Amino acid sequence: MALEENLVIPQHVALILDGNGRWAKKRGLPRTMGHKEGCVTVEKTVETAARMGIKYLTVYGFSTENWKRSAEEVGALMQLFRYYMVRLLKVASANNVRVKMIGDRTRFDKDIIEGINRLERETKDNTGLTFVIAVNYGGRDEIRRAAAKLAADCAQGKCTPDQVDEALFASYLDTADMPDPDLLIRTSGELRLSNYLLWQLAYTEIVVTDCLWPDFDQEELERAIRQYNKRDRRFGGVK
Ligand code: IPE
Ligand code: IPE
Ligand code: MG
Repeated sequence: MALEENLVIPQHVALILDGNGRWAKKRGLPRTMGHKEGCVTVEKTVETAARMGIKYLTVYGFSTENWKRSAEEVGALMQLFRYYMVRLLKVASANNVRVKMIGDRTRFDKDIIEGINRLERETKDNTGLTFVIAVNYGGRDEIRRAAAKLAADCAQGKCTPDQVDEALFASYLDTADMPDPDLLIRTSGELRLSNYLLWQLAYTEIVVTDCLWPDFDQEELERAIRQYNKRDRRFGGVK
């Protein structure tokens, strides 16, 4: 079913793509096969979001805590990044998509860092969807890095503590210049944030679906947008 015309399309959708491992397990496959299939779903979702007119799509690709997984799984995820960064360049160019990465990229191998920089550089003038990938991303780590940079600027006399308001602090985050997410979708039924966008999700509407990430499709996204349209966003006020 196509999306009804009177529905408001959220400007910024954030996604916690969870359930790749469970998707594979259900099929008797290794977890890495779930990640591979999950990458195909990411690609399709970028195209769908661009077509729908969503302005920002931010997906959680790899958390600061995901390094705890086995060397085999982490290694397989790194290989998938390498492969999909090249594909993404094509998808982004074909769909007028600007790609941005948030998180601490310094921990990755040199070729991955170069790939990320290239993706951002070569898509920076695209004017359609901004596709943001959170890699080696943790909300607490992002806030810590922002606080350290701000403290360094204060120590150098570039600003004073009394100038630090919410807008100034937010400008030190990886998401500077981006609007906060309107809608957060988490797949595979888990009811937690897992250290995702802790500052930015303050007033975001949350939709959780039991669908495992590799099975996520346009219909699931449309269902989430319909739910979003039923919400009454008050931002602490009274209506
Ligand atoms: C999400 O799927 C992908 C990453 C965290 C990289 P999971 O790998 O967490 O899948 P489950 O939660 O074990 O099913
Ligand atoms: C969140 O999923 C991180 C990503 C989707 C990249 P996890 O599977 O790592 O989260 P937990 O462990 O269930 O909280
Ligand atoms: Mg998981």
